[in-house]
Amino acid sequence: MTATCDIPDVLVNALRDARHVCILTGAGVSAESGVPTFRDAQEGLWAQYEPQDLATPEAFLADPALIWRWYRWRRQIVADAKPNPGHYAIARLAELIPRLTLITQNVDNLHQRAGSTDVIEFHGNLFEDRCFADGTLAAGDDSLDVPMCPDCGGKLRPGVVWFGEVIPEAALNESCAAASDCDVFLSVGTSSLVYPAAGLADLARDNGATLVEINPNSTMNAADFDFALAGKSGVVLPELVASLAL
Ligand code: APR
Repeated sequence: MTATCDIPDVLVNALRDARHVCILTGAGVSAESGVPTFRDAQEGLWAQYEPQDLATPEAFLADPALIWRWYRWRRQIVADAKPNPGHYAIARLAELIPRLTLITQNVDNLHQRAGSTDVIEFHGNLFEDRCFADGTLAAGDDSLDVPMCPDCGGKLRPGVVWFGEVIPEAALNESCAAASDCDVFLSVGTSSLVYPAAGLADLARDNGATLVEINPNSTMNAADFDFALAGKSGVVLPELVASLAL
């Protein structure tokens, strides 16, 4: 394992030779856009809460209006944010590699706003509303404290995957297939603490892929990676793309 924030030639060559690159991103890739990571301390009114205590079906049923206030606060933060150079570098990378699969744990839509397409949203999307009863996409009256489903009259919920809930089947299947097929697997801005997303790197390793971690802080899984590029994704990813384009 090589820990550096310069892009080693052997890694550049592996990317140049790659038929298929799989990228998994986490909250760290949006940190330079001003979106707090999941394990950053929350600010202001929300400082008293742990995200893990709010992002659950139980918390929603206990106080749906509180959960909607939290998600509306997060929507405003993200709506005010802009994609950063790391998001744009990933969108550019897709033009330089024969096949790139982008899997994100983030729900902030910033990859899409930077031009990435076919983004696999492993944990859903912050800006979608879904019927709490059956999970179908719906649009309710957002002026209400708790929007109601136009079809069944029940509560709407934000379209994100909560703790204890299953990953959308299509997202999980596509992600596992991509990790099992790729030649290079980039894990960017994630603490690699939450499964099954954190297990995708294991699938990639088992398939013989070159594993790369991009994170300013070493994670517990860093030793399992062939390369640990210790730096901010908004700096390292543009360097990586620039080295490819040479
Ligand atoms: N560039 C790259 N990585 C960064 C940056 C940056 N500028 N800033 C912070 N990081 C790293 C941190 O070192 C940390 O390892 O981003 C990671 C963020 O970790 P988490 O906050 O745990 O976020 P994430 O890994 O995405 O969490 C996974 O857990 O809580 C659930 O559903 C939630 O999708 C989330 C999942």
